[in-house]
Amino acid sequence: MADDPIVQFQRWFAEVEEAGYWEPNAFVVSTVTSDGWPSARNVLLKMVDEDGFVFFTNYTSDKADELDATGRAALTFSWTELRRQVRVTGSAERIGTDESEAYWSTRPRGSQIGAWASDQSAVVDDRSVLDAAYTAEEDRWAGGGVERPDYWGGFRIRPHLVEFWQGRPNRLHDRLRYRSDGGAWILERRAP
Ligand SMILES: Cc1cc2nc3c(=O)[nH]c(=O)nc-3n(C[C@H](O)[C@H](O)[C@H](O)COP(=O)(O)O)c2cc1C
Repeated sequence: MADDPIVQFQRWFAEVEEAGYWEPNAFVVSTVTSDGWPSARNVLLKMVDEDGFVFFTNYTSDKADELDATGRAALTFSWTELRRQVRVTGSAERIGTDESEAYWSTRPRGSQIGAWASDQSAVVDDRSVLDAAYTAEEDRWAGGGVERPDYWGGFRIRPHLVEFWQGRPNRLHDRLRYRSDGGAWILERRAP
């Protein structure tokens, strides 16, 4: 194991990318609602470095409300074909608009238009509402670039716990957890 959990994560992630997964960067981000219910959904990892794990979403969505309210998240990466899991707990914050802008400009045009057309997590009457909204946005942006809506951007999860799980025979799996302690990482083995 590396001394630093992000370095260890990057090693595993490189192996996952080589293994030919569909969406190898998918992970579950778990939040807690204002009345204490757990709430979990998949998103896509777009950046990981010493500052943490970054994904992009709509800032008016349920998950964004929950991340803004609590400043906390748990992440679960499931790479079951490799008998691996990574769990992360950490603080959540919106990334800077310049960072969101930089990523927005790399997105396919259809995804950009879709972000304008969908009020993520709102109730819609039926599919035709979404299709009509998409067509209207396509017309609105015809002939030019699509600006980033100010309600669309990234969240960064700064980890304070990162646990790597590797399946082993006889259910004696490896669980190696990094715990942040005053700026240093402490690596501990936990019973499977
Ligand atoms: C594989 C996969 C990847 C996804 N990636 C994202 C993503 O990066 N950002 C996002 O907002 N939603 C993503 N979604 C959709 C979310 O799971 C979810 O439906 C949506 O964000 C609304 O969640 P919320 O109502 O809890 O905010 C993804 C879904 C799947 C199945």
